[in-house]
Amino acid sequence: MPRTIEWIDGKVRLINQLLLPHELKYIETRDWKRLADAIKRMEIRGAPAIGVAAAFSLALFAQELAAVSVDDAKEKIGKAAEYVKNTRPTAVNLFWAVERILKAAEKAASLSDLKEIVVGEALKIWREDEETNRKIGEIGEKLIPDGGTVITVCNAGSLATSYYGTATAPIYTSYLKGKEVKVIAMETRPYLQGARLTAWELKQAGIPVKIITDNSIGIVLMKEKVDVALVGADRITRKGYVANKIGTYPLALVCREANIPFYVVAPTSTIDPSIETGDQIVIEQRDPEEVLKIFGRRIAPEGVDAIYYAFDITPPELISGIVTETGILDKPFEKSISKLFLKR
Ligand code: MRU
Repeated sequence: MPRTIEWIDGKVRLINQLLLPHELKYIETRDWKRLADAIKRMEIRGAPAIGVAAAFSLALFAQELAAVSVDDAKEKIGKAAEYVKNTRPTAVNLFWAVERILKAAEKAASLSDLKEIVVGEALKIWREDEETNRKIGEIGEKLIPDGGTVITVCNAGSLATSYYGTATAPIYTSYLKGKEVKVIAMETRPYLQGARLTAWELKQAGIPVKIITDNSIGIVLMKEKVDVALVGADRITRKGYVANKIGTYPLALVCREANIPFYVVAPTSTIDPSIETGDQIVIEQRDPEEVLKIFGRRIAPEGVDAIYYAFDITPPELISGIVTETGILDKPFEKSISKLFLKR
């Protein structure tokens, strides 16, 4: 599996996800703004990958930074951080990574110190992401029976992280342990992360995958044998409300009707302990043109508009458990999540 994003000799190399599955092409840059803009343009996407890209963007900024004093440098990196934070609003990993970098930079005693600290912290965030996902894989693998079928939405895979994925981690670990595992991927209109990205990476890994249209989950969960739903998350509140790609909430509702366990799979960096309920999460609304056109060709009559929320909120009562690198969080999430943060 090719690496989603890497730091190579002071440069960042990332897969341009807009071109998949047809072309595997990389963007290479030393320009911090170019990398921040790649988040905005969705050349890189997925909550943990966005966090890593944000951290690398600030590392590129720090690397080139000229300042008259360390305080001046801290002020400048603070301004760059504002730019990075304005790229996308929903995935908390982006804000988490930026805050981590700024907190580390605060300790710097000189400009060269700051450069070293910021690059070091960004590399740490990148490496930790893969380690976290491998732990999630070990923990979540038990939810998949041998010969089982997993349904997922969007791409919470390797491409959405530095490597290995979140919702895909239990799938990859099951596969590596010799289990037979199949996947049903919702196509995920309008960006088609399921059809383009999840299908691409599972195919690369040799895991059988079938695509369904988002509106067929009702009949598919009634007719096909599906053992478990595993989905990613962009932000999880203290009470266990989960923002994830549009289509996740209807999937959870159908899973409840069909008696299929529905698990959210995410690193603890996706938990936002500062908020309680779903209505406190900013839901990204993207350009309606993305709904009204398919590959640049308009599908609706001119003059017709669209409603386009890029994420939805699944309430805790529909979630069987939240698989994290520390274990599976059980209901009531308010209790298991606060216990987790009290431990820190
Ligand atoms: O708009 P995207 O492609 O960034 O949305 C991605 C998702 O919603 C993923 O499911 C989520 O970020 C979890 S990724 C491990």
